[in-house]
Amino acid sequence: SGPSIKLSSGYDIPLIGLGTWQSKPEEVVNAVHSALEAGYRHIDCAWGYGNEKDVGEGIRKSGVPRSEIFITSKLWSTYHRRVEECLDQSLTNLGVDYLDLYLIHWPVPLNQNGNHPMIPTLPDGTRDVDKEWKLSDTWKQLEALVAKGKIRSIGVSNFSEYNLEKILPTATIVPAVNQLELHVFNPQHKLLAYLKSKNIIPQAYSPLGSTGSPLLKDEDIVSISEKHSLSAADVLLGYLLAKQIVILPKSVTPARIVANFKGAQEALSKLTPEDVAKLDGLAAAGKQKRFITPPWPVYLGFEDWPQPYP
Ligand code: A2P
Repeated sequence: SGPSIKLSSGYDIPLIGLGTWQSKPEEVVNAVHSALEAGYRHIDCAWGYGNEKDVGEGIRKSGVPRSEIFITSKLWSTYHRRVEECLDQSLTNLGVDYLDLYLIHWPVPLNQNGNHPMIPTLPDGTRDVDKEWKLSDTWKQLEALVAKGKIRSIGVSNFSEYNLEKILPTATIVPAVNQLELHVFNPQHKLLAYLKSKNIIPQAYSPLGSTGSPLLKDEDIVSISEKHSLSAADVLLGYLLAKQIVILPKSVTPARIVANFKGAQEALSKLTPEDVAKLDGLAAAGKQKRFITPPWPVYLGFEDWPQPYP
């Protein structure tokens, strides 16, 4: 089932999980089934991905017992005032009675009565942010759901240090993880050092650089991969594992799902400290790039996107 690390909650999390964002419902059943057959024991989901019913079907098809699988879901942004309602929908759709990990998907509550179930906008075209709502009150609801036994561990996603400081002073449970866009071109060194100081485990989404990734063709990455007879994807994944980052590569292609699971571990054993140092420096050397940009203000405090909250 691959390597794992311990969360501050006391539970182990497998370091390799299958990403399911942008996986079409008709493809993700087979993707999840293939992943569990290949040895994955960790599936990363979200209410907002709109495919949790199909993920649940893939889990049941695999025949792997629920107790052996680490399942994550995320609170959608229009549900910050009604956390349990969103969680219950995910539990029902996935067909499970608890989650291993539940995350606040974005540090930006959106108006629950907006004109779009996922991304409400105002008549002037700006996003309908629920500015009256405090993130610390969202966090309190997640803590209560742990006490109720519906969730084992809780965490956040897309939170900068600025966002984390909004919930930490009143938190009785420190977030176990912070799931971020993390890869060789967006290494977030400063934020990772901060997370380490708080014992918050980083999780990498888009570890390969997302759809149509230029990282897979980057000459520095390819040269390291050729030296070790690995693929570029292997190197990108092994690099993150070497830094004790949980990786969530997305694929709906069975051959890639298998290759990513094996290749990440092979790369972890082959990459040298010099390779890791070289990859660590590529962003600062001019290759810094973020691929995921949400249509609402969120990045205050991120090194590469320091614009203020409106
Ligand atoms: P697909 O799902 O069609 O197999 P990320 O995890 O960074 O978001 O990247 C996901 C994208 O990378 C998807 O488009 C996925 O395509 C593709 N992908 C996943 N694994 C590999 C791989 N080993 N080699 C090349 N492309 C891959």
